[in-house]
This record gives sequence, structure tokens and C-alpha cells, in this order.
Amino acid sequence: MKTFEVIVHWPNGKYSIVSPGTEWLKIAKEAGVDIPTGCLGGSCGACEIEVNGEIVRACINCVPISCKKELKVEFSNDPYW
Ligand code: FES
Repeated sequence: MKTFEVIVHWPNGKYSIVSPGTEWLKIAKEAGVDIPTGCLGGSCGACEIEVNGEIVRACINCVPISCKKELKVEFSNDPYW
């Protein structure tokens, strides 16, 4: 079975090559990107990131299976508020 991989570009200039289905918080940590968290249950919005312009709550989502080959991640919240 062929494994698809996706390149994720982070706000810090780094990138990760990951398999769809990988948790956002896990790959962010590995890339040295600190995504702020709160509830870790999908309700507070502290962990929101923008993935190719779409808001995603990182604590409850994974890299989507039917996605493009490259994803650009940006912070939708100011991480220093
Ligand atoms: S940490 Fe609260 S929604 Fe993700």
C-alpha cells in the first residue's frame, strides 16, 4: 500500500514531512512550533491554527487524508496574548 506524505510549512520557517492522519499538536512539537492550548477538548479555541487559510483546532484534528501535497500553517491567534 502506498503511503502519501504531505509537506507542512510552519510559521518558524521549518517544514515537516508527515503522513495524513498525524495529530497537529504532535508534529508541531516535533517542528519546534509551540501551539498554545487550553482545554485540549476542542471547545476553547486557544489552539486554532490556519491551514491553507482554513481555521483548524489543532487539539482535536489531524492532517487531513484528502489534502494537498503542501500545507501552510499560520497562527490564527496571537500566540503571545
Ligand atoms: S485547546 Fe481548547 S480547543 Fe484546542
